[in-house]
Amino acid sequence: MNMVNREMGSEQLQAQARIWNHIFNFVNSMCLKCAIQLGIPDTIHHHGQPMTLDALVSTLQIHPSRGPCIGRLMRILVHSGFFGQQKLAPEGRDAYVLNHMSELLLKDNPLSVVPFALVMLDPILVNPWHCLSAWFRDGVDPTPFEMAQGMSFWRYAGQEPRLSRFFNDGMASDARLVASLVVNEHKGVFDGITSLVDVGGGTGTMAKAIARALPHMECTIFDLPHVVAGLEVSENVRCVPGDMFEAIPPADAILLKWILHDWSDEDGVKILKRCKEAISKSKGEKKRVIIIDMVVDDPAGDREMIETQHFFDMLMMILASGRERNETEWAKLFVTAGFGDYKITPILGLRSLIEVYPS
Ligand SMILES: C[S@@+](CC[C@H](N)C(=O)[O-])C[C@H]1O[C@@H](n2cnc3c(N)ncnc32)[C@H](O)[C@@H]1O
Repeated sequence: MNMVNREMGSEQLQAQARIWNHIFNFVNSMCLKCAIQLGIPDTIHHHGQPMTLDALVSTLQIHPSRGPCIGRLMRILVHSGFFGQQKLAPEGRDAYVLNHMSELLLKDNPLSVVPFALVMLDPILVNPWHCLSAWFRDGVDPTPFEMAQGMSFWRYAGQEPRLSRFFNDGMASDARLVASLVVNEHKGVFDGITSLVDVGGGTGTMAKAIARALPHMECTIFDLPHVVAGLEVSENVRCVPGDMFEAIPPADAILLKWILHDWSDEDGVKILKRCKEAISKSKGEKKRVIIIDMVVDDPAGDREMIETQHFFDMLMMILASGRERNETEWAKLFVTAGFGDYKITPILGLRSLIEVYPS
């Protein structure tokens, strides 16, 4: 069939429109980044009432010649659901208001996703995407990140304080959100546990929140030396620098939040074996590994949720030789590492709480 000469029907036009939509998907990410950098959510928040475009333009720190373009930026952001719009009485002028999404873009919100957005949309992390096809062809570098930046992501973060700070802040804001949910609504996961090591615990947000909610629990933040250097600890929180591939301090339970998805199956099994050794040294009766990570391709998931999980899976391929896993893949990992039963509780939006018990 001569595809070029065929008359373009509505199906082709629809296909073309969908392809254009994909080509320009990055526009959504970049408009979001721009809104954060200009401080638009904070500006509307500080205004204290619905904010008209004129008021927004006159408050933002922008060049006067750019004022007319702000309305266009706001149009796409409203369309994407980042802001709401209300009619102002009595003239009926449109004004912007915050909603659940823009509230999470406020810099001072303890649950803010701003650091996460800024690190993920930094050129250091965006540039490796341009190497993806070359990485597939060459088969040399372990990740597109290494191809673009000349070293592994973890090594780069260790040498580049700005990236490390953004990354750790991004992880901490997510940890605050997840910790408040786990500690307030799923405390039962810690029943019978008196000591816990948060492996790859970053700057300790999760471990500190658990220790505050459960004062009888000894919590350990365990991470690479440059991450935990100078961390403040408290009575039932201690901090241990180290490498999880070598040894993990003993405890009743090991927490792995957003760790195993960073690694290949081979490395994941190594980490889980170190976890097994660590809990086997404790005298507790309710030993377990608690994983917070995605379980992908849930048939009950909606289209957007599944797409976001696939985005994360690709991100793990780009950054760290890791992957997101479905239940069968998780189960295989646990069996290979010598664990027995496991329980998945899908309670954290895109992520699940997975408890893994020694055999
Ligand atoms: C994706 S972050 C997750 C941080 C934290 N668990 C959270 O969810 O907020 C992965 C963490 O693993 C740590 N990490 C990487 N390699 C490690 C290693 N070999 N030993 C210990 N921690 C490591 C990183 O420094 C980082 O803090």
